[in-house]
Amino acid sequence: MTLVAALDYPLSPAPVAAHAPRLRVVLLGCGTVNAGVLAGLEAMADRVEIAAIITRKPRRKGDDRYAWLTDIHAAFDTGPDLVIDALPDCATAEKALALAVERGIHVISANKAVIARRPDLEARARKAGNGFAYSAAVGGGVPVLETVARLKASGERVTRVRGVLNGTSNFVLGLLEKGVGFDEAITAAQAAGFAEEDPSADLDGLDAAAKLALIARAAFDIAPDPHAIEADSLFDLSVGQILGARENGLRYRQVAELVATEDGISASVRLIALPEDHALARVENEENAVEVSCASGISIILNGKGAGQAPTAGSVLSDVRALLADGAPR
Ligand SMILES: NC(=O)c1ccc[n+]([C@@H]2O[C@H](COP(=O)([O-])OP(=O)(O)OC[C@H]3O[C@@H](n4cnc5c(N)ncnc54)[C@H](OP(=O)(O)O)[C@@H]3O)[C@@H](O)[C@H]2O)c1
Repeated sequence: MTLVAALDYPLSPAPVAAHAPRLRVVLLGCGTVNAGVLAGLEAMADRVEIAAIITRKPRRKGDDRYAWLTDIHAAFDTGPDLVIDALPDCATAEKALALAVERGIHVISANKAVIARRPDLEARARKAGNGFAYSAAVGGGVPVLETVARLKASGERVTRVRGVLNGTSNFVLGLLEKGVGFDEAITAAQAAGFAEEDPSADLDGLDAAAKLALIARAAFDIAPDPHAIEADSLFDLSVGQILGARENGLRYRQVAELVATEDGISASVRLIALPEDHALARVENEENAVEVSCASGISIILNGKGAGQAPTAGSVLSDVRALLADGAPR
């Protein structure tokens, strides 16, 4: 009896030929996210080379392992195959992504604001057959977009996505509940690498709204304007309200919700006082938790680190590996 049949496919990926071209990468930004991505790419030096790194402030002399640049055009002139965008929401980011798409360069981004605002960039990149991935833009390390895409590909109809999608506001709410002041809580979120220099998009709900817009794109092929999604601001909630809720067994959470309706979709970002044993009330610190419900009755709950260097850079690197597995560079 034959116990081990011969396989007609390899058990492990084929070894990369010594002469295989490496993917030339430009990093847009090198802060919390892309510093982690850079470390991961350094460990993939047989497949990837860093063509240039763009930052806002010039790097100190002596840091000359890479071409540190402040001019996007100079970075694009290095001939990259891929740009990895971890810039804040700014005109430079939008300009750089538009230029990448125009030049047929693959894009991987963590920048949910720009990706949500410019659905045309993804459409153009895909039409041209180029990579355009942004796993890290929603959920940090939690595979929200991937789960929605997989459900859709398997014929499921997503009817509702609801959850805590912004790790920064959750982290800040957790500190406010402990009696820490607003400014101190925001400073702590920035020091931990969760909040950006300007944390207003996180706290005003715009960041969660942009994530809902990206989920709507994955689930329903539509691109709502994040600014049109109604959102409550954490700045309108007093510490007294938060502490009062706590005394009554309730916890405020920023809850983002997307629902398929007969007319299209409804979406909102609300600050809701939930009973403390509610699944979303139990989300701590920078964690995210998301429930994806389908018409068939299937419901999937995802939990994990929604912000921070390791989970976010990990998602970006998984997009890089997927691109390499697809055969880039061509
Ligand atoms: N942090 C997270 O946990 C997380 C999670 C998911 C998604 N994201 C998204 O990832 C992106 C990056 O976040 P981050 O936390 O890594 O930000 P960050 O730590 O503030 O780093 C931003 C980087 O961008 C550079 N930069 C800023 N403005 C620039 C400009 N006008 N031109 C050129 N370079 C510029 C900065 O340069 P300098 O170094 O010179 O200051 C810095 O290297 C954001 O879009 C954010 O929403 C972050």
